[in-house]
Amino acid sequence: MTTKEIVIEAGQELRGDVDETLTLELRSGKAEIFGTELAIGHKYQFTSGMKFSIFTYWGCTIVSSHDDYYVARDENPMHIYLNVHGMLEQLRQKADAEKTRGPRIMVAGLPDVGKSTLCRMLVNWAARLGRTPILVDLDVGQNQISIPGTIAAMVVRRPASVDEGFRIDMPLVFHYGYKTPGENIGLYNEIVSSMAMYVNIRSENVEKSLISGVVVNTCGYIRQEGYESFKHVAKAFDVDIIIVLDSEWLATKLISDLPSVKVITLPKSGGVVPKDAAKDKFRENKIREYFYGPRNNICPHVFTIDFNDVKVYKIGAPQIPDSCLPAGMILKNPYNKIMPIAPSPTLVHHVLAVSSSSDPEQLLAKNLLGFVVVQHVDPDKRSLTLLSPQPNVKNRLLIMSDVLFVDLK
Ligand SMILES: Nc1ncnc2c1ncn2[C@@H]1O[C@H](COP(=O)(O)OP(=O)(O)O)[C@@H](O)[C@H]1O
Ligand SMILES: [Mg+2]
Repeated sequence: MTTKEIVIEAGQELRGDVDETLTLELRSGKAEIFGTELAIGHKYQFTSGMKFSIFTYWGCTIVSSHDDYYVARDENPMHIYLNVHGMLEQLRQKADAEKTRGPRIMVAGLPDVGKSTLCRMLVNWAARLGRTPILVDLDVGQNQISIPGTIAAMVVRRPASVDEGFRIDMPLVFHYGYKTPGENIGLYNEIVSSMAMYVNIRSENVEKSLISGVVVNTCGYIRQEGYESFKHVAKAFDVDIIIVLDSEWLATKLISDLPSVKVITLPKSGGVVPKDAAKDKFRENKIREYFYGPRNNICPHVFTIDFNDVKVYKIGAPQIPDSCLPAGMILKNPYNKIMPIAPSPTLVHHVLAVSSSSDPEQLLAKNLLGFVVVQHVDPDKRSLTLLSPQPNVKNRLLIMSDVLFVDLK
């Protein structure tokens, strides 16, 4: 196979859209992918449709198997992002010396400005210095920690792997059930509050977590009620710093609405690509990875379970128009109503969250153990066929999500 040697100058990025499989190897110097250092001599494989960016602070030489790359000549914002990391590390050192709380930051902006990527870099750089920041991902559409329809948090102890992402170790995951916060904003805000409470407890009890701080990733849903929810996130997590990517409008509004928070505006990278068409694929891949592993190397279980052995719930009742209610009657907002539902063929392809709670009233406030997907429902035999990483979910409480997964092999 013919290979090409590419020299990347200090401070430059090598970016690419992979057409077919591409193998890259760091021959000399130092380089990183979204905050994770590359090992010299290791062959990194990128598959068709993937986008990558290799950044070098000092300069390096890469060997590539194909031509699917270009050295970006634009002014990339990596040195600015690294300065932010430097500032955060200084705050951690101060917190360490004074035994106080380390920095809590939140990253905000419209969709496709590089929010998730910046969060990933910030926690990776922190982990490389031995810190253990808590990464909170509140993006219910494209969560880096769990599958779509959830919010999640985890302690980052080591940088994400280039090929397989973060090593997800004991994550805290809450059910939401939709792909955008606007579908049920009341429920979204409620689970954000629960998550913040758990993160606060962890910070208070584990000194390393307290000092390392928190990085909160958000959705790009920032207009109207999204903006209000956004302020709710900032208050619930008591953030000290908000990084706004590429939106003067948002930064100005936040500075006047949250005077006690430091708001920093940063440019987006020229390498960030709109994901429009790729979003559904990203979501599907995230769920597929959950069941089949990042390298398609896990074999999930498929089993049939009796209707009597599971209890399925749905959270949030449909809003009844005022015109359908008797005159003068006011219904309590049903956004967080927990309702048992009878298994039926309408459940097919739906993701069901497996709760750690055995009390239906606690379904919203308790961590999820995992997920299953309904593959088939037989009303005559009164049984459900489930795709599941575990061999059984007997007697567990399951929560129906609006998120679907069609398991096409
Ligand atoms: N510097 C970069 N070079 C190449 N691709 C990038 C760069 N930064 C981000 N990307 C890619 O751009 C896409 C959008 O970035 P993402 O962080 O997901 O945006 P957001 O979270 O704001 O929606 C992702 O596929 C990401 O891998
Ligand atoms: Mg994102």
